[in-house]
Amino acid sequence: MAIDDELLNRVTWKIPNALALVGSRSGDERNAMTTSWITQLSMEPVLVGVGIDNSAVTRRLIADGGSFSVNLWDATDTKVFVKFSKPATDADGALNGRPVRDGVTGVPIFDDAVAWFECEVRQSLDLGTHTLFIGEVVDAGIRDDEARPASMADTRMKYGGVKRGGH
Ligand SMILES: Cc1cc2nc3c(=O)[nH]c(=O)nc-3n(C[C@H](O)[C@H](O)[C@H](O)COP(=O)(O)O)c2cc1C
Repeated sequence: MAIDDELLNRVTWKIPNALALVGSRSGDERNAMTTSWITQLSMEPVLVGVGIDNSAVTRRLIADGGSFSVNLWDATDTKVFVKFSKPATDADGALNGRPVRDGVTGVPIFDDAVAWFECEVRQSLDLGTHTLFIGEVVDAGIRDDEARPASMADTRMKYGGVKRGGH
């Protein structure tokens, strides 16, 4: 049974997703990207999956570099997600002006993240428009235990649903 595209959009947009910056690196090339498809997938080992657009710079960097970071952000500072929805500028130890340091796997970790973790890719699945990268958490930290991490509901932005022209 064919489901109307508009209904598919409206219903998938209702999924209460997280919203964070996914950091990646291959060689000297680094990036971070606004990402909402993030979920834990196993407890032993502790695995987290991220769904990454096959046309994104981030997809290439995670595939080549073999790791990624997830940087949870303060829910009161959601303008960062607009800036990171295109490839980031890497200058003076910062991505788009937000200071980063190298994690144990080399991927960028944001100094301003309220909490973060770093994953080594264990499996990847090309699912169509997106690749699911499944990574084992190899390092993690919390900067501000009181801050509430951002989710999609903190913004007016939408992501997901059916593929649109130009995306
Ligand atoms: C609110 C929001 C959520 C997003 N979530 C995802 C996501 O989960 N996966 C994804 O591949 N792109 C997502 N995007 C799109 C990427 O941020 C955007 O396509 C980016 O330009 C591609 O990343 P790149 O810099 O690695 O090329 C989202 C964008 C916005 C505005």
